[in-house]
Amino acid sequence: MPPRRIIIDTDPGQDDAVAILLALASPEEIEVLGIVAVAGNVPLPLTARNARVVCELAGRPEVPVFAGCDRPLAQPLVTAEHVHGKTGLDGADLPEPHMPLQARHGVDFIIGTLRAEPSGTVSLCCLGPLTDIATAFTRAPDIVPRVQEIVLMGGAYFEVGNITPAAEFNIYVDPEAADIVFRSGVPLTVVPLDLTHRALTSAARVQAFRDLGTPVGRAVAGWTDFFERFDREKYGSQGAPLHDPCAIARLIAPGLFSGRFVNVVIETRGDYTRGMTVADWWRVSGRAPNATFLRELDAEGFFALLTERIGRL
Ligand code: BDR
Ligand code: CA
Repeated sequence: MPPRRIIIDTDPGQDDAVAILLALASPEEIEVLGIVAVAGNVPLPLTARNARVVCELAGRPEVPVFAGCDRPLAQPLVTAEHVHGKTGLDGADLPEPHMPLQARHGVDFIIGTLRAEPSGTVSLCCLGPLTDIATAFTRAPDIVPRVQEIVLMGGAYFEVGNITPAAEFNIYVDPEAADIVFRSGVPLTVVPLDLTHRALTSAARVQAFRDLGTPVGRAVAGWTDFFERFDREKYGSQGAPLHDPCAIARLIAPGLFSGRFVNVVIETRGDYTRGMTVADWWRVSGRAPNATFLRELDAEGFFALLTERIGRL
């Protein structure tokens, strides 16, 4: 099978960074056409910087990196420095990037790529708030049926929320954007907290990254160590969920995942539930399914894949 051709839309973030590395280390399965940074975990100037830091760490300075939207569609930006640190990539000491940020706006890159490539050959892998995708779909509705698939990390059903009691961070930051994407009719695969909370690091799994003995392995170990402290304190879990790499791994090894094709709608109004992903897991609503909502993960297989691929860089 030829590699899946993807645009990564992302707000790095340590787990986004590991996801980008996993994609760049997997050329047999994934061709990264470009990376678009969006405001999310930290403001846009930092996510655009961090995406380039990661490409250079991977030895791939030729990958085009674009800056997308600097704020959500209808509300002020909410960030997550309490999880990711001041830079978004705290935990590893890496040099400032030399590679340029592309001059073109990230949304224009998404629109232009989907128009230029044969219909149904480009997928979007979204690791942050969905602002860029919703903006592109609103501005250029002709691209919507040309998208092969959207694989996105976001939402939760059984785990409910992480940034509020009801909402997961990526959806909460821009619920209006998520609403546009979930109503778009594009085939959606959702990687929610229900699944990513099974992708927990542990001392042994972090040590395996460190034992690779490479700068990339050490950076991944440093990031996951940093990121872990938050989830250890919050959930009492022994490690941190590697949320975003799960979305990339889904494209590489779909057999590690399972879920259900169900209806998912975004709550945009609730006083307490804004940003909630209402997944009709039990199929009681009568609403038509619009998303493959993943729940189960072979965590051993996932970490084996991740460690092997990180070791290639
Ligand atoms: C999501 O929010 C961010 O903090 C992570 O990078 C991930 O994309 C998890 O809720
Ligand atoms: Ca992210």
